[in-house]
Amino acid sequence: LVKELEKHRFSMGQVQGVPLPGDTCDAWDTIYNFQAREDDVLVATYPKAGTTWAQEILDLILQEGDAKKAMRAPCFMKVPFIDLFPPKPMTSGLDLANAMTCQRLIKTHLPIQLIPPSFWEKNAKVVYVARNAKDCMVSYYFFQKMNKGLPEPGTWDNYFSSFLSGEVPWGSWFDHVIGWWKARDKHQILYVFYEDMIEDPMREIRRMVKFLSKDLSEDVLETIKHHTSFQAMKNNPMTNFSVLPSVVFDQSISAFMRKGTVGDWKNHFTVAQNNVFDEEYKKKMEGQDLTFHTHG
Ligand code: A3P
Repeated sequence: LVKELEKHRFSMGQVQGVPLPGDTCDAWDTIYNFQAREDDVLVATYPKAGTTWAQEILDLILQEGDAKKAMRAPCFMKVPFIDLFPPKPMTSGLDLANAMTCQRLIKTHLPIQLIPPSFWEKNAKVVYVARNAKDCMVSYYFFQKMNKGLPEPGTWDNYFSSFLSGEVPWGSWFDHVIGWWKARDKHQILYVFYEDMIEDPMREIRRMVKFLSKDLSEDVLETIKHHTSFQAMKNNPMTNFSVLPSVVFDQSISAFMRKGTVGDWKNHFTVAQNNVFDEEYKKKMEGQDLTFHTHG
């Protein structure tokens, strides 16, 4: 596994101009031809937007609040990630998804233009989670440090520039959140904000329940909220990635369940960086009716 990882760490490629891990690019045809099913629920996000959190809520909704069932397997096994090829001997998300016979929750970080068309042909439901760019950048920086399958992020200063110019795995945060935002009325897409989930988790859980056409009791909703709190997920071996060896995720560098807050960027951005960021942000988001909260 260590040897496989060494081979992996720095290999990056591109698909239609979007930077993606090398193995994802090599398997692109297979990924793009992935066969969705009508009852699939796709969780789509830019990395670090709260994917694991939304996945856990959605799984608990599908399991009608049965926490034991939700703990049947680690989150990356029960919710296959179709656009990442982990080093052998780990099973790819594509293989896991294809082998599933029950209703599937599927994870992707792909920008909308790269989603396998079969999801649209089958009219599958998609929950898209967006998180403000500043906190995403900080979270991704720490994640790229500890995730040995992604390129080293370098210094914070360098990473700041790479992120702003979209030279990070899965590409530009701007293109991602805008692309999905524009498509939200064309397909069955529920667009959710991480900051809203922090502000009022129950409200956002209810939105997801409604979107999945489920009818759950107040007790069940409370159970879901309880099991998906930051602290509960940090302590849960099925959601905190502690089952992965440190050669894959080195959590002594940074925990997967790191902080789970809005506004941590203020502890990392310099005043000068914040100015550069705000100026660039204004240009890139100009004319978009998409707004984020960046303060907790
Ligand atoms: P931080 O690094 O800012 O702490 P993803 O699952 O997309 O990789 O996102 C990971 C981010 O979501 C991390 O952010 C993690 O702490 C946060 N997160 C995960 N579960 C959460 C929860 N239940 N409540 C709040 N934040 C959560």
